[in-house]
Amino acid sequence: MIPFQQILEEIGEEIIPYKSMGEVSAYIPELANVSQKAFGMHLKTNAGETFEIGDAATPFSIQSISKVFSLSLALSLAGEKIWERVGVEPSGSRFNSLVQLEYEKGIPRNPFINAGALVIADTLVSLLAEPKADFLAFVHTLAQDSSISYDAKVAASEKAHGFRNAALVNMLKSFGNIENDVNTVLDFYFHQCALAMNCRQLAQAFGFLSHAGKIPGKDKNILSGSQTKRLNAIMLTCGFYDEAGEFSYKVGLPGKSGVGGGIAALHPGHYTVATWGPKLNEKGNSVLGMKSLELLTTKTGMSIF
Ligand code: DON
Repeated sequence: MIPFQQILEEIGEEIIPYKSMGEVSAYIPELANVSQKAFGMHLKTNAGETFEIGDAATPFSIQSISKVFSLSLALSLAGEKIWERVGVEPSGSRFNSLVQLEYEKGIPRNPFINAGALVIADTLVSLLAEPKADFLAFVHTLAQDSSISYDAKVAASEKAHGFRNAALVNMLKSFGNIENDVNTVLDFYFHQCALAMNCRQLAQAFGFLSHAGKIPGKDKNILSGSQTKRLNAIMLTCGFYDEAGEFSYKVGLPGKSGVGGGIAALHPGHYTVATWGPKLNEKGNSVLGMKSLELLTTKTGMSIF
């Protein structure tokens, strides 16, 4: 038996010197409205045991972590066809870069950079009758929690400052890789990023990725075992943008970060884990999240490698 609670408490102590490092995200002004010193961590084993420290029950803006949910829903509805419009290669570029998209003629490298997530958002706008409501219902199903909602203030704040995403979606449209009205796609995308969730809810919502595509305790498959394996592979290679190599090297788990300071990760077949610390490093990933997950796989001696 791994003493997870004791390990989490040790991590809570050992990350204290890192609390002064990094900056909260400012390009979406509403994201700066958080307690800068906050830190939470929640781990759920495949056997159903839960362990946590700190602010694990405080909701925060999940931002790009939502790209895992949108990709899962698009894969479950449209299958492999989605790969005609977006690739599965790491970008090695910043998450919101425009340059690569121009060179590569409007086919984004992967579904986790903003350009790729906008293509997936467009796919969902085409496939869903009520895109925002249906996507929220999907997240409720994954998390087994219908209290989760969009933070309208964060969505509005990103809409008012989302010039780079507007540029990306327009460039995609110019290459014929957006089917719907660009403002409809942006509105959906800003809302998916503005989902407010806490570490407990995120660890629960990632459960199907650790259970070969099945929501823990339920019979229904969200994705097949093979699709789940592939989604986890894309998280490992692309989940942290131009820091995916560093996360893989130091942590060794598939995971996804967001500029709200959250990270959700998993050890397939063993556990899911979510962390939240709002201050980010220069690559846009949580300083405390990266460090605490590095400590977790070091102390447990468990990673996928
Ligand atoms: O589109 C954006 O820029 C944000 N809504 C999400 C970016 C993000 O979370 C990148 N992750 N580290």
